[in-house]
Amino acid sequence: MSHPAIAEDNVAVITGGASGIGFAAAAAFARTGMKVCIADVDQGRLAEAAAKLSPSGGAADVMMFAVDVSKADGVTELERAVRERFGGTDILMNNAGIQPGSTLFAEPDNWQRIIDVNMWGIINGSRIFAPNMIARGKPGLIINTGSKQGITTPPGDPAYNVSKAGVKAFTEALQHELRNAKDCRITAHLLIPGFVFTGLTAKGSTEKPAGAWTPEQTIEFMLTRLEAGDFYILCPDNDVPRALDEKRMIWAAGDIIENRPPLSR
Ligand code: NAI
Repeated sequence: MSHPAIAEDNVAVITGGASGIGFAAAAAFARTGMKVCIADVDQGRLAEAAAKLSPSGGAADVMMFAVDVSKADGVTELERAVRERFGGTDILMNNAGIQPGSTLFAEPDNWQRIIDVNMWGIINGSRIFAPNMIARGKPGLIINTGSKQGITTPPGDPAYNVSKAGVKAFTEALQHELRNAKDCRITAHLLIPGFVFTGLTAKGSTEKPAGAWTPEQTIEFMLTRLEAGDFYILCPDNDVPRALDEKRMIWAAGDIIENRPPLSR
């Protein structure tokens, strides 16, 4: 059994859906018979990804949309386009992200871009899609991709850490808001991948390091946690649980040991 929002003919929108974790999610949703919109800033990759999702070329249930999620106007157009094509959205996965690297006292432009894409992208998506998702009156999901770095804030790459800490804080605020909204059957979730072998982490390497997960494994894990009703979806990762545990956070040895109460649907 899967989450009720993951159902044939329901609609999933995935930002950063042209590659990595986002593409794996789009493929998993498409396999269940859902209509899928992949949204991404990389137009070349988008076309390739859409062709993979719809090998027959029919693409009746696959839509692609070029958008920079850091720009609210573009995200507003995306939401409208999905409504016009598919009638509305049941699952929004705000997943687009970048990690070009940053230092504390240099590269001010880099800071701005990282926070604009990683944090504002998620804020834009959630704020713009949520009202019409709630109005559908159906069970729905908003899944925001955070990072363990937004919780453990390790040394190095401070802009990324800050952006992902913002994603966590925003998603918690969204969860409170949705719980209190009248007749709302949408729940918010924070996906925290472990170390996943994708373009973001490969940095040119073609060999998956030992211990890294594939995007497909990550999504498979996410689907089981969604079914369980978890708010935090914390993927196992070799080096992180101890750090989280020290901060009295949520899991140890890869298993969730504490979570928010199951969400109502
Ligand atoms: P990826 O690089 O394969 O996928 C990211 C996608 O986002 C790309 O297709 C890219 O074109 C798109 N994108 C970038 N900027 C965009 C923008 N402004 N507007 C729309 N699309 C944009 O990387 P991956 O690993 O699949 O990353 C997905 C998410 O997972 C990111 O938010 C990342 O921070 C997060 N994450 C990844 C981890 C990993 O180990 N790979 C670990 C923790 C978090």
